[in-house]
Amino acid sequence: MNAMKTTTMQTMEDTPFVEFWNEVLAPKFIRFKHVLVGGLSQHSQAIFPNLPVQAGDRVLDVGCGFGDTAIMLSDIVGKDGEVIGVDCCDKFLEYARNDIHSKKLKNISFQRGDAEIELPTDGFDLVFARFGTMFFANPVAGLRNMRKALKPGGKMVHIVWRNRKDNPWLSMAKDIVSQYLPEPGEEAQTCGPGPFSMANEEMVRKMMQIAGYENVTFQRVDAQVLVGNNVQDAIDFQLAIGPAGEVFREAGDEAEQKRDIIEAALAEAINKQKHGTTGIVMDSSSWVISATNPK
Ligand SMILES: C[S@@+](CC[C@H](N)C(=O)[O-])C[C@H]1O[C@@H](n2cnc3c(N)ncnc32)[C@H](O)[C@@H]1O
Repeated sequence: MNAMKTTTMQTMEDTPFVEFWNEVLAPKFIRFKHVLVGGLSQHSQAIFPNLPVQAGDRVLDVGCGFGDTAIMLSDIVGKDGEVIGVDCCDKFLEYARNDIHSKKLKNISFQRGDAEIELPTDGFDLVFARFGTMFFANPVAGLRNMRKALKPGGKMVHIVWRNRKDNPWLSMAKDIVSQYLPEPGEEAQTCGPGPFSMANEEMVRKMMQIAGYENVTFQRVDAQVLVGNNVQDAIDFQLAIGPAGEVFREAGDEAEQKRDIIEAALAEAINKQKHGTTGIVMDSSSWVISATNPK
């Protein structure tokens, strides 16, 4: 394996977004790990065989979550390569570290960090992010830090959700919940801009260019994702995470008072979805955005 010359990232006070991931979202993501990891993997599986990465490469996985893509990348780069996963959420990193410990993987490590503030700058061959960059409050700063982590000519690939219309797995429940509850106000606590913040190709291309990338390309990936093992699991998932979960959480007592009627409306809509072998599946659509750090 290449000599690890990873920089130590400076410790800064957490932003409110990072606090939100750690305090509010982590327990919910852990509860619905079966939906999230399985669902998200559909979108990386489609592109993994063609990722610009090979044995011996050094890779940074940004917003690595539970670490499953970082582990897949460590398999590709092999013993002569190295993967570092960075995430701002301690609980996710705990899962990731336990996983590599039990799998006895030696070419991979995880660091806690906020990508908008600082990332290791060790000349990586590839910087990768699956559904992490959409949460950057200052996307250009985060994208620029990702570019600075690359060697000249290095590649960056990130996956983000496309528009609401093509992602009913997230938008349908939000539309239903919004019939009963008010939109979250300006003061709502959030994890950052949210899942559709990078859906607009033109705007994201501009952001990537401002962050210093060249050869920016977009590839559309459509996939059916699991939204729950059964109808109640899907309802619980929607009321915990994502746009519907945000409306429900922010409405507080009003949401609890209307829980029965909201759950009944969700059950009716979810029942009409496809029931697959492992549970209920719905359509989803992502962009795989690839770019190069200029030489
Ligand atoms: C939707 S999850 C995706 C996790 C993982 N990449 C996957 O595909 O399973 C988004 C991840 O981005 C992380 N994240 C959000 N903002 C971040 C930031 N500014 N710096 C580092 N990680 C961040 C979250 O903690 C979370 O693990």
